[in-house]
Amino acid sequence: MVEIATSILSVEKGKEAATFLELEAAKTDYFHIDVMDGKFVEKNTYSKMLEYASYIKRISNLPLDVHLMVEDIKEAVDDFLAVEPNRITFHLEACKNKEEVYKTIKYIKENNCKVGISVKPNTKIEDVYEFLPYVHMCLVMTVEPGKGGQTLLKDMVDKIATVKKYIQDNQIDIDIEADGGINLRTVSEVKKAGANILVAGTAILAANHYKTIIDELKMS
Ligand code: DX5
Ligand code: ZN
Repeated sequence: MVEIATSILSVEKGKEAATFLELEAAKTDYFHIDVMDGKFVEKNTYSKMLEYASYIKRISNLPLDVHLMVEDIKEAVDDFLAVEPNRITFHLEACKNKEEVYKTIKYIKENNCKVGISVKPNTKIEDVYEFLPYVHMCLVMTVEPGKGGQTLLKDMVDKIATVKKYIQDNQIDIDIEADGGINLRTVSEVKKAGANILVAGTAILAANHYKTIIDELKMS
């Protein structure tokens, strides 16, 4: 059964308490925290995501799936460790060289947190292969990072299938997360390709009943 990570990027200020409580009741598997620094991507959601994540930590036991779309990864890791996330995912493209990738993986693990590595749509999936044995998850962006409500890039479905085959052929037991444009129309091809954690923001937050849409995404 796939797991659903609800992106809280578009949760409206003032409605966050009710939204998070309803998402908890709807049994989202993770809260997906989209951290943007205004440099790696245009938007800056840094302080809002830290505030929201701290609030969720206080009211819920559900795990936090932190997605760092930032240039200064170590600074963001230090800030978001405070909310005791289940996993922190950083972007390969934010690292200057391989040494920095390995150093970041080690740093997150040393702080007792699971680590994910993410690739943007234009990054070749082969570029991340060597790091996969050392992480817990590979996040395949199915849209260009930076905002919610975009349309899933179809080519990314093949990219998911390619990395799925690679981890199976090489006995690497990690999760594959797909992130961006996931909804009832796109979920089955993404699942069939091999993603086992699906991020959805708009599809869930725009729905009248969170539990219904989360169950439908899981069952589709
Ligand atoms: C985009 C974020 C995604 C996005 C998902 O940079 O990483 O998590 O918020 O939102 P939807 O589901 O609306 O594409
Ligand atoms: Zn995300």
